[in-house]
Amino acid sequence: MKRILSGVQSSGKLHLGNYFGALKQHIALQDEGECFYFIADYHALTTIQDPNVLRDNGRDVALDYLALGLDPDKATFFRQSDVPEVTELTWILGTVTNMGLLERAVSYKEKVDKGIDASVGLFIYPVLMAADILIYRSHVVPVGRDQVQHLEMTQDMAGKFNRAFGEIFPIPECRLDKESKVPGTDGQKMSKSYGNTIEIFAEGKPLRKTVMNIVTDSSTVADPKDPERSNLFALYSLFATDEEKAEMAARYRAGGMGYGVAKEALLDKINAFFGPARERRKQLARDPNYVEDVLRKGAQRARAEAQKTMALVREAVGMKPRSVG
Ligand code: TRP
Repeated sequence: MKRILSGVQSSGKLHLGNYFGALKQHIALQDEGECFYFIADYHALTTIQDPNVLRDNGRDVALDYLALGLDPDKATFFRQSDVPEVTELTWILGTVTNMGLLERAVSYKEKVDKGIDASVGLFIYPVLMAADILIYRSHVVPVGRDQVQHLEMTQDMAGKFNRAFGEIFPIPECRLDKESKVPGTDGQKMSKSYGNTIEIFAEGKPLRKTVMNIVTDSSTVADPKDPERSNLFALYSLFATDEEKAEMAARYRAGGMGYGVAKEALLDKINAFFGPARERRKQLARDPNYVEDVLRKGAQRARAEAQKTMALVREAVGMKPRSVG
């Protein structure tokens, strides 16, 4: 059975882009392989320096995943920092990683270009990510397009390590999350940094306000409209069946339907689609121990795997089996 792994960096409230770009696939994959999913809190530390925010974000994203259908009996779901062995592997991989490789990392360069005062942690972010993947000897890593380069770096590190020390790591393959193109309310790609998101767990008035503020062109109610060029239609399509899509497209083209009506239709779809998950989330949140219990059990399983790999790695590089702890 293939081992599938992915990390979730929780940098705020999850939105439709996260759902259709990643979560949906992650949850579906739990029936296809042996899944390991974790909350990447060591990674989050490269941008969050507030202990309450780090803690709350981690808990929130765990609740989100569980409410949306992640089944902890099927997938191993845990917090990255509950498996500290991954930092040991980060160090060891760091010794087979060229500076040049990391210097070419686009996401690092982009952050530096934006004027972020880069830490060493941010620079070696891809090494930690490689350690995440390799320590569980994963075969498949579902990620968005922005993470593909990091995955190629992981393949590079795994290959280098294997050539130097023996075949320890399977070379992981990337599985590109398919429907990653979710437009934001302004028509650009939906992204927290553009402030154009529709949150998965928004509801009531705030959700309505967000949907009603989706940017459309200035055509009048009577005008025929082009669904292919409408971000509102693209959003509706994420939730609609093929028939519903065709019907809505026909109404756009015919004219006589204002964007307000199309927005109401989208709102109904969002509510119907996420309504049950919202209720489930509220229910799960009521039990303060639930999330912790899930993550603790997941961490036990994950850590046992990590320790097995580290025993092989330590032996391969010439270290003794750990004699203490
Ligand atoms: N860097 C990933 C992101 O921002 C999160 C992540 C951390 C990850 N470790 C990983 C993804 C390992 C896949 C595999 O989305």
